[in-house]
Amino acid sequence: MKGWSLLLFVALCYLGIVSPALAQIISYTPSTGGGVSYSINIPSSTLELGAGPIFFQLQTPPDLKWAALGLGDQMTDGQLFVVYSASDMNVTLSPRRANTHIAPTYDPNIRAFLLEGSGIYNDLLTANVRCDNCATSANGKSILSNRSSWVWAVAHGAQLSSSNISETIHQHDWHGIFTFDVTKAVGGDSPNPFFHSSPPFTRLTLNPEQQQISDTLLHKKRIAHGVMSSVAFVLLFPNFGLLLHIIPTRYTVAWIHAPLQMFAALLALAGLILGVSVSKDLQELAGYHPVLGYLSIGGVVIIQPILGIMQHVRFRQSREKTLYGVSHRWLGRFLCAFGIVNGGIGFHYAQAKNPDIPLASPIVYAIICALVGAIYVLWLAVAWYGVAA
Ligand code: HEM
Ligand SMILES: *[C@@H]1O[C@H](CO)[C@@H](O)[C@H](O)[C@H]1NC(C)=O
Ligand SMILES: *[C@@H]1O[C@H](CO)[C@@H](O)[C@H](O)[C@H]1NC(C)=O
Ligand SMILES: *[C@@H]1O[C@H](CO)[C@@H](O)[C@H](O)[C@H]1NC(C)=O
Repeated sequence: MKGWSLLLFVALCYLGIVSPALAQIISYTPSTGGGVSYSINIPSSTLELGAGPIFFQLQTPPDLKWAALGLGDQMTDGQLFVVYSASDMNVTLSPRRANTHIAPTYDPNIRAFLLEGSGIYNDLLTANVRCDNCATSANGKSILSNRSSWVWAVAHGAQLSSSNISETIHQHDWHGIFTFDVTKAVGGDSPNPFFHSSPPFTRLTLNPEQQQISDTLLHKKRIAHGVMSSVAFVLLFPNFGLLLHIIPTRYTVAWIHAPLQMFAALLALAGLILGVSVSKDLQELAGYHPVLGYLSIGGVVIIQPILGIMQHVRFRQSREKTLYGVSHRWLGRFLCAFGIVNGGIGFHYAQAKNPDIPLASPIVYAIICALVGAIYVLWLAVAWYGVAA
């Protein structure tokens, strides 16, 4: 568009006759990102060809240690761009790839460059970036769709002040995902849209489909989930079951066993709720561990109390052992074993997402489980032998 046709276009835009579908920059500022904002612009030729340069800008306040933007809806999906201070005035752009959830490493195959306007000024760290092989994310998905997902992450702390593109970075404290229609960011065809924006770009502030996650809170929820669920299944359910044999009085069922097991079931339920919340944060609602968890918690929270109460009511009426009692006893033993095994699977499941779990935790877990199992079986054997002798 040249000369008078551009004038006409601008005039028509002003009059609202032509909607300025061209020349767009979309900006997204996650509310928990500590002030970071991300902007994206895609030349129309890139959209048409499905390949070519894309442009983005990261702007952060000076109290962020580093900020990053990535292609895809998982940290491991594709190209990641980590930005930090190089000096008092300059910034470092470090294109990286993550193969697991361990810290991502510098990837020289990503052709990304800092453009004019990048630097630290006006109390902001600005990185204007062009990437020449980013129209497709590293795992093969095109980002040029009407449901394009991007990830972001920030770490608070003192400025890194490093021009080393492989600088060691520690885990983010907030991260998130946002999804938007990329065609809203197309147009302008400027070689540096965040610096030379003529004709004037239309900026669109996104309020996209998004998820924002505190890593500190996630960490606490993971630990609380593991501890609460394990305490309930490994320590409480089996031992509160054994109490019936250890204290064999006529009050034990109603005044000791039932209330304590209900407490344990509530603890397991609270653990489940935290587990679901962790799964949502990690976008991992399927999988053996969650499904087996729903089954075991469903069993202890719903079925066991019903069977137990039925048996107790019948026993008070007729002093007899009913099928309810037998089912309650064997289902209870089965559910304990089932939940304990699922805890082991939980360690395996968590490992895939968070390699920071110390090896000692599953080992200690296994030892405690074996001890509890041995005590349970031994006690029953001795009690049974005592009755038989
Ligand atoms: C039988 C009940 C359950 C037990 C005994 C149990 C136990 C555990 C244990 C010990 C861990 C490892 C904790 C860690 O160190 O991070 C774990 C992880 C996990 N559990 Fe469970 N769990 C149970 C049920 C569930 C349920 C129902 C869900 C629901 C969706 C769930 C979701 C998860 C998730 C997502 C992780 C991985 C956390 C991470 O990635 O760090 N769990 N579980
Ligand atoms: C910042 O970058 C510019 C351009 O690359 C360079 O000339 C200048 O020396 C750098 N300043 C510092 C303090 O490193
Ligand atoms: C997004 O694209 C898909 C396939 O290209 C199309 O079916 C769908 O209608 C589009 N959605 C919107 C909101 O434009
Ligand atoms: C850059 O940082 C990495 C990771 O800390 C280190 O291994 C490497 O030696 C550093 N390179 C330079 C040139 O300082």
